[in-house]
Amino acid sequence: MAIVDLASSAEDRLLLHEASVGNKRSVAEPPEEESAAAASTMVGYGKHEGAAAESDRSRREEQEAYCVKGVRHLSDSGITRLPHSYVMPPSDRPLMTDDDGDHLRLPVIDLARLRDPGQRAAVLQTLDAACRDYGFFQVVNHGVGREVSGGVLDAARRFFELPFAERARYMTSDVRTTVRYGTSFNQAKDAVLCWRDFLKLVCQPNHHRRQEVVPEWPAGVRDAASRYAMANHALFLELMDALLQALLGISSGGGLVGELASASSQMMTINCYPACPEPELTLGMPPHSDYGLLTLLLQDHVEGLQVMHRGRWLTVQPAPGSFAVNVGDHLEIYSNGRYKSVLHRVRVNSTRPRISVASFHSVPAERTIGPAPELVDGDHNPPRYMDTDFATFLAYIATAEGKHKTFLQSRKLPLPSSS
Ligand code: OGA
Ligand code: NI
Repeated sequence: MAIVDLASSAEDRLLLHEASVGNKRSVAEPPEEESAAAASTMVGYGKHEGAAAESDRSRREEQEAYCVKGVRHLSDSGITRLPHSYVMPPSDRPLMTDDDGDHLRLPVIDLARLRDPGQRAAVLQTLDAACRDYGFFQVVNHGVGREVSGGVLDAARRFFELPFAERARYMTSDVRTTVRYGTSFNQAKDAVLCWRDFLKLVCQPNHHRRQEVVPEWPAGVRDAASRYAMANHALFLELMDALLQALLGISSGGGLVGELASASSQMMTINCYPACPEPELTLGMPPHSDYGLLTLLLQDHVEGLQVMHRGRWLTVQPAPGSFAVNVGDHLEIYSNGRYKSVLHRVRVNSTRPRISVASFHSVPAERTIGPAPELVDGDHNPPRYMDTDFATFLAYIATAEGKHKTFLQSRKLPLPSSS
């Protein structure tokens, strides 16, 4: 994950999220010269500066202490300028490219048609093309009831409206807990903060079969989030079944899908992106790919998600009631590169707060994932990725390599020369 301290966020990856994107700011604490150089070239940065360096420093310290309380708190306080800690270097700001703002209508996967034996083959083709070309698609007629999706969005809104002291009860530096409230990615270490507060809810293994709720989750969201998580997991299994049929040409039920039905990992992040005073200077979430097999994103009617497509950032038009689904690193590896785990990021805006719920699904952390044996043969289709498990990921991010490229890139095997 750009900007985040890779070492301490590593354990989060166990929970499927926030695969790393190497760039210079992936370094947890950039060298002094680098921050200074970035700061001195920041457009608008100077406007935030007072005359005297001393008062400037104390003001900044005060602001930084305030930032720890999160962006909802900042937004509610009525600030009109973006605090220094959120100002990204010019090259990373959202409006720097010419084509910024172009919209993307994601390929639509109609589950009613997928469930119709006469139409399934055609839908599988669309699904296959979407995962190859975009790494993203939009699911409609999925059968997850409005009351279930609306319920979790309402519960999310209510949670972020709680007084800060109430939300702060779930703030912890322990990334292994089943509930964690926080801001940015890693507020203690991020070189530049992101304009996002989040509530991370880790599902119990097999909660979907035992119909259990997680007792540690905040009382106000527990029931709605639990009901939503179960419905979401069922949808994940159905999508994986279709994807494996598209990919391998077999109607499975067994194989990986059978395995996932009995053991998988699932985590939800409820993201809150409040209205932001200078949205052109920052991001709600920096460019990243997701670590698991699939991510199912529920969003309200406010746009913000952007997807990298053929070298350009395109804004996904929200389609209320649908899910935006994306291929994660594990599925790119399993498909031996046929399906793409693409970079995406989140923009914020100055008027409309936005809520999203991202559900991350994959194999259990201890399970190794590699290219599907059906897709690999010695000569024509060599494996393009090394086998991977969570321990591999931890080892990777402990190396200097983690600062320069993505985890996915690090798993790529060199292609045999064509001579
Ligand atoms: C994520 C993510 C997008 C959004 O949580 O990994 O990409 O719109 N979220 O919140
Ligand atoms: Ni993501």
